[in-house]
Amino acid sequence: MSPAKVFVTRAIPSEGLALLAAQVEVDLWPDMLPPPYAALTERVRGCAGVLTLLSDRVDAALLDAAGPDLRVVSQMAVGYDNIDIAACTARRLPVGHTPGVLTEATADFAWALLMAAARRVAEGDRFVRAGHWTTWHPKLLVGLDVYGASLGLIGFGRIGQAMARRAAGFGMRVRYYAASGPKPEAEAVIGARYADLDTLLAESDFLSLHVPLNADTRQMINAATLAKVKRGAVLVNTARGGVVDQVALHAALTSGRLSAAGLDVSDPEPLPVDSPLLHLENVVLAPHIASGSLQARTRMATMAAENLLAGLRGDRLPHCVNPQVYG
Ligand code: DGY
Repeated sequence: MSPAKVFVTRAIPSEGLALLAAQVEVDLWPDMLPPPYAALTERVRGCAGVLTLLSDRVDAALLDAAGPDLRVVSQMAVGYDNIDIAACTARRLPVGHTPGVLTEATADFAWALLMAAARRVAEGDRFVRAGHWTTWHPKLLVGLDVYGASLGLIGFGRIGQAMARRAAGFGMRVRYYAASGPKPEAEAVIGARYADLDTLLAESDFLSLHVPLNADTRQMINAATLAKVKRGAVLVNTARGGVVDQVALHAALTSGRLSAAGLDVSDPEPLPVDSPLLHLENVVLAPHIASGSLQARTRMATMAAENLLAGLRGDRLPHCVNPQVYG
């Protein structure tokens, strides 16, 4: 019997590709840019599995184009807002993702953005490179204390909790908001306290977003919520760009409501070259690389390959987004 054919939408780390190549026929999209939707539709036709990234749209039409042989969708990311999960579930297609293995890498990077935004690291770098540094001055590029400040975590899953552990070392008062309510077991271990969203917004010096993007969280940071933020707070977003209304964010950053922001994600991605956010000195920007440590990306690739192979065998995916398909 010929091996199952799978479409892999980008050159994932070789450890993941090697796992796949040993067992299945891999059709690999070699370009840096994602396959256009039409090409994606064409390439999945007749495939038994597809390994996707967060920039690939997986919807009902794509699943239909793939046809009846499709047995599994495996995403190399923890987030899966690019995938129509209901459409997959309706077709009894398990969807895999990669939770856990990128938690610490992502929290490290969120912390780096928090520190960089507070202490004006990127601005300082630009200042020196531009030849503007003439002397030490008591008022030069003065930032905000992180040590001893208050941190508000919006979302308190794995990555939010990893942020709270980092904050403990900085003597911060840590509170969190989670739509599901307080998480006493995590509180007991980590020492963060639950607060309602309005309290968190009003009393935090630093706000960091750790929620998935869905109908409830889309643009949850908007003009109304930003109006409740403590004046001069810093916002960090390593979740999804769609959680923030960027027009309102820009207004808050120029009015002084927010003193700075650190953004790894935007809506859309990449951030358009004419985005006004690019002109603000008090924004630190990154191209969605928070999970981008060598170790995390390697583990994400192997986990995505393992999910895919399990689905092809008809086994339960080790990390399945829609376990209802097994019901
Ligand atoms: C994810 O996994 O969802 C991140 O955004 C990319 O690693």
